[in-house]
Amino acid sequence: MITPVIMAGGTGSRLWPLSRSLYPKQFLALTSLNTMLQETINRLEGVATNSPMVICNEEHRFVVAEQLRTIDKSASIILEPVGRNTAPAVAIAAEAAKDDDPLLLVLAADHVIQDAGVFREALNNAIPLAQAGKLVTFGIVPNKAHTGYGYIQRGDSMADGNGYVVEQFVEKPDADTAAGYVNSGKFYWNSGMFLFKASRYLEELTRCRGDIAQVCTKAMANTTKDQDFIRLDAQVFAQCPDESIDYAVMEHTKDAVVVPLDAGWNDIGSWSSLWEVNAKDEKGNVSIGDNMLHDTSNCLVHGGERLIAAVGLDDVVVIDTKDALLVADKGRVQDVKKIVEQLKADK
Ligand code: GDD
Ligand code: MG
Repeated sequence: MITPVIMAGGTGSRLWPLSRSLYPKQFLALTSLNTMLQETINRLEGVATNSPMVICNEEHRFVVAEQLRTIDKSASIILEPVGRNTAPAVAIAAEAAKDDDPLLLVLAADHVIQDAGVFREALNNAIPLAQAGKLVTFGIVPNKAHTGYGYIQRGDSMADGNGYVVEQFVEKPDADTAAGYVNSGKFYWNSGMFLFKASRYLEELTRCRGDIAQVCTKAMANTTKDQDFIRLDAQVFAQCPDESIDYAVMEHTKDAVVVPLDAGWNDIGSWSSLWEVNAKDEKGNVSIGDNMLHDTSNCLVHGGERLIAAVGLDDVVVIDTKDALLVADKGRVQDVKKIVEQLKADK
């Protein structure tokens, strides 16, 4: 049986000023009437799974509980006292599940998948590989040299024809390297979703980053439960190194397999990806709210608080909220996180 593990503890800083520390992007309705977290859970309808685990920061516990209640879903909610990135988050989920040793379907909470049916087919292709002990990732055919993704070089086809050996996994390469990978036609983007046995992940983490595995085992040995929430030992978990699953395990394991996924996938990582996935007017603008655009093209204007008027703009992002306004070149939106870093430093 599959246990979905939804990683919902990120900060979403490149989507400032809409994504804030109290309400990061996964808890916002950015692409539909549902929030990104709710979309992630609803996408699993029709897949036979155990009840999901959501792993998030302690300060978001009531937001998560309320968002699950609204869509009539239940989950175990594991609370991290501090964020230590995804390698520990998945280790905690694997520790919590290890007695039954299910397949863990690890999902990010910031993805758009247009065709949930195709996603479920890819999942079916991945199940026998994961049951055989492989660490399966889902690979997306890249359409540009994005530096915010992991890259997977495809090797030999697996015997069942449903996936490929991972020849090489490179997390977030620089722009030139990424361009070389895309042009070679041999690489996929790592979708950031994984399927593996809980025990296999813990074995590989222990081999690659024993320090992380050890702290997570200790932090889980002393959990407390109140209401629906599972809390880790805060003092122990605070000592955990901060590392993503990609750097900690996927770049090093010899047992990775990639299953291709062509389902209209997108990571809503920055304002330009939100522009990409939304319906546009005839000039390529995405306008949310009651805005007036004149001689303006390829822009994202996200308002709602007051009238926004734009004249003669091209490739610009305007995000208006009650207390902060962002105006940015659409090609530079990765740098929004620099503003957030500066704001934090000035506090
Ligand atoms: N519980 C928990 N704790 N969740 C976390 C934490 C944490 O400390 N940090 C991040 N997450 C969650 C985020 O909320 C998101 O749902 C998911 O983990 C992935 O984190 P991101 O921060 O969005 O990662 P990324 O997009 O930069 O990179 C990953 O995803 C790409 C595709 O979307 C990598 O796996 C890349 O290789 C991949 O290409
Ligand atoms: Mg992401």
